[in-house]
Amino acid sequence: MKYLMAANWKMYKNRQEAQKTASELFAKIGTMPEDRELVIFAPFTAIETTAESFKKNGQPVKGFSVGGQDLYPASEGAYTGEISPGMLIDAGATWVLTGHSERRAIIGENNAFVGQKTAFAMNAGLKTCLCIGETLAEREAGKLNSILEQQIKEGVKDLSEDFNPDDFAVAYEPVWAIGTGKVAGVEEITEAHNLVRSVLIKLFKEKGKQIRILYGGSVKPDNATQIIKLDNVDGVLVGGASLQSESFAKIVLA
Ligand code: G3P
Repeated sequence: MKYLMAANWKMYKNRQEAQKTASELFAKIGTMPEDRELVIFAPFTAIETTAESFKKNGQPVKGFSVGGQDLYPASEGAYTGEISPGMLIDAGATWVLTGHSERRAIIGENNAFVGQKTAFAMNAGLKTCLCIGETLAEREAGKLNSILEQQIKEGVKDLSEDFNPDDFAVAYEPVWAIGTGKVAGVEEITEAHNLVRSVLIKLFKEKGKQIRILYGGSVKPDNATQIIKLDNVDGVLVGGASLQSESFAKIVLA
């Protein structure tokens, strides 16, 4: 299992800024350590530029990938403003996020739609990272387990049995830790990741042990090493600290 060290650039970086940050990152990291890989989830318009920055002699370099932050679950059609998996692949993406909490909260995506997107993306050949996480109100109401279990079960409902566990990941991002600087504590991360692992094993047996579980929510260079050492933490999904190549390179090499 390789650690999956991921950046979610959200709605930041035009093509020039993406190219600059990706090239700096590429130069700072050089050869990716064998035990990890990096994915940049870039804005749609910057996927191609970012993917080009991760090439040597015109070929993609092992350990450096690019993903999209969303998709529409159709191969083409009258879906104004939407992007298909094929368009993401055409731009150079090999990964995609589904169900990010900002899309759930701002756009109103529900578990059922996230599940449709996840299955469609995987079937289209995109490696997929399903995002889950509870709000502070849900945590304080003692609903952590039921919320995470429901998000996972509905998120993978339409997944075909024969998927490759290397091509599917789950990112646990407590909503109250996203963008707040308030990173979840060791106990909170361990409890949530152990729960996610148990649900994945219940659903997928042996395969459930291989699916990578990422932590996201105020990951910084000074907490990344401690976080990825925890049980059932197989990587991170980083927002703010991934926008600068200096800080994200430190996290990737944590
Ligand atoms: O998807 C990752 C993101 O939600 C975490 O954001 O800024 O807390 O690292 P941030």
